[in-house]
Amino acid sequence: MLYLQLLLVKLGTKFVGVKLGILGLGTVGTGTVQLLQDKTGRHPLLQEIEIYRVGVRSLDKPRAVQLPTDVLTTDLEAIVNDPAVDIIVEVIGGLEPARSLILKALSNGKHVVTANKAAIARFGAEIFTTANQSGVYVMLEAAVGGGIPVIQPLKQSLSVNRIHTVTGIVNGTTNYILTRMQTEGSNFSDVLADAQRLGYAEADPTADIDGLDAADKIAILASLGFGGRINLKDVYTEGIRQVSKTDIAYAEKLGFVIKLLAIAKRITPSSPSSPLSLRVHPTLVPQAHPLASINGVYNAILVEGEPIGQVMFFGPGAGAGATASAVTSDILNLAATLKTQRVTTEKLDQSQIGSLNPLLACGHDEYSQIAPMAELITRFYARFLTNDQPGVIGKLGTCFGNYGVSLESIVQTGFQGELAEIVVVTHDVPEGNFRQALAEIENLEAIESIPSLLRVL
Ligand code: HSE
Repeated sequence: MLYLQLLLVKLGTKFVGVKLGILGLGTVGTGTVQLLQDKTGRHPLLQEIEIYRVGVRSLDKPRAVQLPTDVLTTDLEAIVNDPAVDIIVEVIGGLEPARSLILKALSNGKHVVTANKAAIARFGAEIFTTANQSGVYVMLEAAVGGGIPVIQPLKQSLSVNRIHTVTGIVNGTTNYILTRMQTEGSNFSDVLADAQRLGYAEADPTADIDGLDAADKIAILASLGFGGRINLKDVYTEGIRQVSKTDIAYAEKLGFVIKLLAIAKRITPSSPSSPLSLRVHPTLVPQAHPLASINGVYNAILVEGEPIGQVMFFGPGAGAGATASAVTSDILNLAATLKTQRVTTEKLDQSQIGSLNPLLACGHDEYSQIAPMAELITRFYARFLTNDQPGVIGKLGTCFGNYGVSLESIVQTGFQGELAEIVVVTHDVPEGNFRQALAEIENLEAIESIPSLLRVL
């Protein structure tokens, strides 16, 4: 009898491995299973991780990975309710049922690893509140930057810094399109069509080219970098549809490349309580800037803080293997946490599971204050089509001057038919002042149209 009791205590304290319930076997799910099935030469703790259940939409679909038939199921609810499962890996994407399954898993006391930036950016508040109440973690390294480690660095390695700016090229599709427009001198619509044909852009590319995917990602990065919740609707978002090959060519002549940047910045860097500026838009980036040379489908995130200065993370922002690396690193992190908990405690009671590791958990529940775009201080690039008559440049200069907008350069190099093309780059100016000047310029007799207006880093 005594022997049996001792045996039970021993079993209760022994780490018996981690059981995964993986939801989804698409590109990321398949990459993750492949990585977990090929453990040689990787971290030894992976040996203690078991693919216990994998939830799929159809059991009949041919798969790139082999799994025992009792592992595959179409009942995703059953996986998140299964008491044997320790970690749910949500890689189905989309908003529902992903949100409900994540919340159910967390309420059931399971840790969650997710690659779902759309769900985290929209439902982060309820997801992290539920996780904290249940004493479990939500890990999301794969949600931003694919395989690039940037979430854990922001949460841990960089968290002693006062972060003042996070600037990212966080959407591979748009970076691929802009890079090809730049190198080939091609139109947006031609490159988009070709990118779709080659599989670099989705059949419905809206989320990527209209900047929505990048907005989700900068909301997540800002939340981590600045320690406050972000309302996604506060992220000013412009995509790349209106970027023309003419502007790319002018930008190049002026010493810039055009990139879709996602930017989170303290309006007053020296004041940690000042509001944030949060935005996604095509931006003229000086050719010497570290982000200017990030081309093709690659992503990069530049973090600036005090005292560290600048740190840039660069790598593959998507793809099965890269994203599986990020997902599995989160699984490993949780496996290590579970292992150390289980060897030190026989059974976790409520007070123990309530003491989450602050370097893994989300520790904030206040919303960050976001400054209106009119208060943003930035440089602008604007292209005007005007009648070719004396005094036009003078009138433009006068209108800008009326609102305190100082010009860095003004060039007239080309014509579009009968119309002269004038390109202006301003010095730093409050966006509100620039817009007021522009409203006055639009009413000038000589101004035919203002085809482009872009911000300059
Ligand atoms: N659609 C994203 C991109 C990849 O083009 O970067 C996944 O986040």
